[in-house]
Amino acid sequence: MTEDLQSIVEGARRAFAQAATPAELENAKAQYTGKAGRITELMKGLASLPVDEKKTRGAAINVAKQAIEGALGERRQALADAELAGQLKAEALDVSLPGRGREPGGLHPVSLTLERIELIFASMGFDVADGPEIESDWHSFTSLNNPPNHPARSMQDTFYVDIDGEDGIPYNLRPHTSPMQVRYAHRHVKQHAAAVAAGQPMPEIRVICPGRTYRVDSDATHSPMFHQCEGLWLGENVSFKDLKVVFTDFCRTFFESDDLALRFRPSFFPFTEPSAEIDIQFQSGPLAGRWLEVAGSGQVHPAVVRNMGLDPEKYIGFAFGMGPDRLTMLRYGVNDLRLFFEGDIRFLRQFR
Ligand code: PHE
Repeated sequence: MTEDLQSIVEGARRAFAQAATPAELENAKAQYTGKAGRITELMKGLASLPVDEKKTRGAAINVAKQAIEGALGERRQALADAELAGQLKAEALDVSLPGRGREPGGLHPVSLTLERIELIFASMGFDVADGPEIESDWHSFTSLNNPPNHPARSMQDTFYVDIDGEDGIPYNLRPHTSPMQVRYAHRHVKQHAAAVAAGQPMPEIRVICPGRTYRVDSDATHSPMFHQCEGLWLGENVSFKDLKVVFTDFCRTFFESDDLALRFRPSFFPFTEPSAEIDIQFQSGPLAGRWLEVAGSGQVHPAVVRNMGLDPEKYIGFAFGMGPDRLTMLRYGVNDLRLFFEGDIRFLRQFR
């Protein structure tokens, strides 16, 4: 390579080395191998040379051009490497940082109780049914022998919705799960209508209906949203004795206590006659000796049986409504109902 070519190649190397970005490098490259670049100009100049000189000069220029392109390729790679290295540094992850802990979740204590209730009653042949929380006046009250203006309506301070039902009376947030008695019975009667019409006996109704209920009430033992679990057993020969057996069995299984005592205390509900409040008494432990109310109950009132679409002369049975929140408090020794609905993880994680 002649001296002039040598110095052009060195100039290119220096210019490439000084280019700090890919754009600067491409500009520098243009000055050598671009359309008006030094090498390109030299190539053009070959035309005026005699043939033998043309050959050797041409070959020399090509060698210089290859050297420049080699240097260019190296610099391109070096700039790309530097850019990648910078990016990796900027977006660096510190894999040695401790992670954000995620503890395993668990069921809410009231959900644990509802599961337990369902399991125990299922083992006694009860179905489990679900129903609406926004109810018609008829289902929540009238069908349960509690018509408008009946004084027993004031037993529950009910939330009403701003929308009228078909009867022109506003819908309510069900203050108890008892409307499920009539809803489920209707479903059951419909389901077995064909068989009954064909002369077969209707299977007994045996169901529990757990779910959310609402009342205008709030203190340490009352929450505007709480849970109830309705029970209904209706057939041609179901008596108060069966209620006592079923509910006693349930409570003793639920609390894992064979000597748990039960008391059926006379009471009033429009939809049962006779009616009883059910109290339980532990024989040992911190609550021993005290009578604790856990449910309302009674023999289903003939007017309610009629509203179910059944003949009260033929069908008889009992219903009960218990408070799963209360059962949860008793089982775990919780003294404030509101704790269940505050969502405080420190409280809830104890039941995990
Ligand atoms: N629904 C009643 C209440 O909320 C409880 C109950 C249910 C009573 C079924 C008798 C029969 O207090």
